[in-house]
Amino acid sequence: MRRLAAARGIAPYRFDPYAATLKADPSKTLAKTGPLAGSDAYKQPPIKLVIRGLPSDGRHPLKKFVFDKRDPWTMYVNLGTASDVCEQGAGARPPAGFPFPCPEAEEGSPRGSIRKYTLAGPDHVGGAFTTFARGLRNSMALAVHPTSNLLIQGENSRDSIDKLDASLKDQEGDLPHEELNVITQGTHYGWPYCIDNGTPNPEYRGRVDCANYKTPALLLPGHAAPLGMNFYTGAMFPAAYKNHLLVTLHGYREYGHRLMLVPVDAQGVPGVGEPLDILRGWDKSADGRDPQGAPVDVIVARDGSLYVTEDKNGDVLRVFFDARLGDGAPMRPRPPSRPVVSADEQARCAALAGRTDDFSRVQRDVIDTACVSCHGAGPGYAGGLALFKCDAVGNAKRLTTARGGGRGAYVSGGDLGSELLLRLKGQGFPQMPAGGVSPEALSEVETWIRAGAPLP
Ligand code: HEC
Repeated sequence: MRRLAAARGIAPYRFDPYAATLKADPSKTLAKTGPLAGSDAYKQPPIKLVIRGLPSDGRHPLKKFVFDKRDPWTMYVNLGTASDVCEQGAGARPPAGFPFPCPEAEEGSPRGSIRKYTLAGPDHVGGAFTTFARGLRNSMALAVHPTSNLLIQGENSRDSIDKLDASLKDQEGDLPHEELNVITQGTHYGWPYCIDNGTPNPEYRGRVDCANYKTPALLLPGHAAPLGMNFYTGAMFPAAYKNHLLVTLHGYREYGHRLMLVPVDAQGVPGVGEPLDILRGWDKSADGRDPQGAPVDVIVARDGSLYVTEDKNGDVLRVFFDARLGDGAPMRPRPPSRPVVSADEQARCAALAGRTDDFSRVQRDVIDTACVSCHGAGPGYAGGLALFKCDAVGNAKRLTTARGGGRGAYVSGGDLGSELLLRLKGQGFPQMPAGGVSPEALSEVETWIRAGAPLP
């Protein structure tokens, strides 16, 4: 095999695998079909850096990119962070060592971001970029939904949190959880300030409001390391796989090293069901240290089979479904069940379950039931209103505090003309949610407001 020495640095490049020479070949027009057909692109040298000047220092130099489904010249590129949690210098401790705002996450063209490139010009290299989304520590897994064009990201979350707070752990070791995020333009996902479902990082406690950052669509086990993913668009596996998300977990803990199927809704949003295993069993070797395999990426072949790269043994696996040998159903995870809900959220929900005050009822019967599916997500999503699951105190505060820009609060105590009620009834505003809530739920909200809208 020839070495592609011309492509230096860690940057996306394009090459012609059939080229006889690495020099330009004016007689060659390889691309008869596809988006490059008829262009001059292949009369140029067969290796081309598609994007130059990407930073590749620090902890997360590797790049990952995916193409938009509607515009073949639009490309989303991961820029992982150079630091772990914005630490400044070795051994730094808060607060001086972890500035807020974090320059790496906010200034200039930030790291911990996904850039959107438009590959312009006759040769479709380089071109302008914008920072599409930020606050993402390392987006090694990226996938675009085949029909909705929604961009989904797999987040590899921070390290060594237990050195600062020994309680942030589960049965497998230290947290936080890894994440699957729905990426929308202009949104901040919280790195390095917040983890899990709106929990401040220990370094940033008391200095940040996690309601300002979008929360994940789904939490995955800590250090599971989602490195690759793709929607299953093939026809070989049973229909239950169709358009759901295949995710490789590379991590060496018990709930790493496997290929999962993550159920998604029609738009591609995860969180509609429990992730299931497709490939597992690379269990720890006799010395008990490492698993015997660690999958990196997964792509769907034209015939619907899967290619899985695996870097413990240096393998490429091809995975077929054969209906004579089994039903192809993905496997339930083995106990202990996946910790997909953060300890923080679990504690909040447990505390809420026993409370009987007016707003705690509203939280359970209205917000958790009818709102968090869209609003549990901070700005950049659903009107910029963050309503977190089981977070009665935080939500009551957000609903009763005046908004910026001279807009009042959604609720003022005693006022049955409060915007929240008008929106629930669809009076003067589009109804929330479409179709409204039950009369019982509405009267619980009225009871709380009539009582002066006290905090729980
Ligand atoms: C299906 C998704 C969805 C659900 C469910 C939903 N919302 Fe919304 N909500 C939106 C979207 C999108 C917007 C922004 C567009 C708009 O203002 O109409 C919004 C806007 C709002 C706003 C105005 C925010 C602002 O300041 O402009 C309020 C208040 C609100 N929703 C409350 C609720 C409440 C309370 C519930 C639950 C009873 C709820 N929503 C359920 C999608 C949803």
